Amino acid sequence: MSRKPVIAGNWKMNLTHLEGIQLVQNLAYHLDSTDFDKADVAVIPPFTSLRSIQTLIEGDRLDLTLGAQSCHHETSGAYTGEISPTMLSALGCSWVIAGHSERRTLFGETDEVVNAKVKAIIAAEMTPILCVGETLEQREAGEAEAVIRGQVTGSLAGVSAEQVADLVIAYEPIWAIGTGRTALPSDADGGCATVRATVAELHGTETAEAVRIQYGGSVKPGNVAELMSQPNIDGALVGGASLNADDFAVIARFH
Ligand code: G3H
Repeated sequence: MSRKPVIAGNWKMNLTHLEGIQLVQNLAYHLDSTDFDKADVAVIPPFTSLRSIQTLIEGDRLDLTLGAQSCHHETSGAYTGEISPTMLSALGCSWVIAGHSERRTLFGETDEVVNAKVKAIIAAEMTPILCVGETLEQREAGEAEAVIRGQVTGSLAGVSAEQVADLVIAYEPIWAIGTGRTALPSDADGGCATVRATVAELHGTETAEAVRIQYGGSVKPGNVAELMSQPNIDGALVGGASLNADDFAVIARFH
């Protein structure tokens, strides 16, 4: 089965809304319709930039898609400081990241919390980008596969096969995030293969063949082609390199 790659730039807590507009304008200058035929390309800015970038995308009829970095699982209510999936959907978001390792590590998000977010994102008719991945310590202890399997299983509890087939899962070994230490293509593919095998066990081969699995962790213009040539890798979740329009354009045009 051929799966359309998803190249997503997660800006994390970087760029003001004015800097964000400039980045997207530069990015749009580099990309043309043939690029979007070959890959879905998404920008995932901080919440404060969503409205201005949505306006830019709509006004200039760009093929870029918009995503958010997190959300609360409730639709509305007394949750000071939180943003709901309904609000993100109304802003034109197509994607929402759930369970990024920085949310899991720094903000205590468990598989149960991530699972509630995944369901809420789907209910609001957006696509979750579910992140999973092991720490260096877990990898060195030979626990990587079990950690990946546990996170996929826990985060997708109660999500149907049809829903899983439509989502995106990002395998991001934590030791490769923001460190410049990219996983070897074979290791990156191995992690993605573990994700796919877990989905197959949960929902069957057809679902596993449909789900798109990204690799994330120090993806750069110089390593993207080799990573994307691996059989189980269907795109990239890009952090640092997505803050530079030239670099992110090269990554988005890896094909
Ligand atoms: O969400 C993106 C990932 O955490 C990867 O970040 O490309 O800066 O290593 P990075």
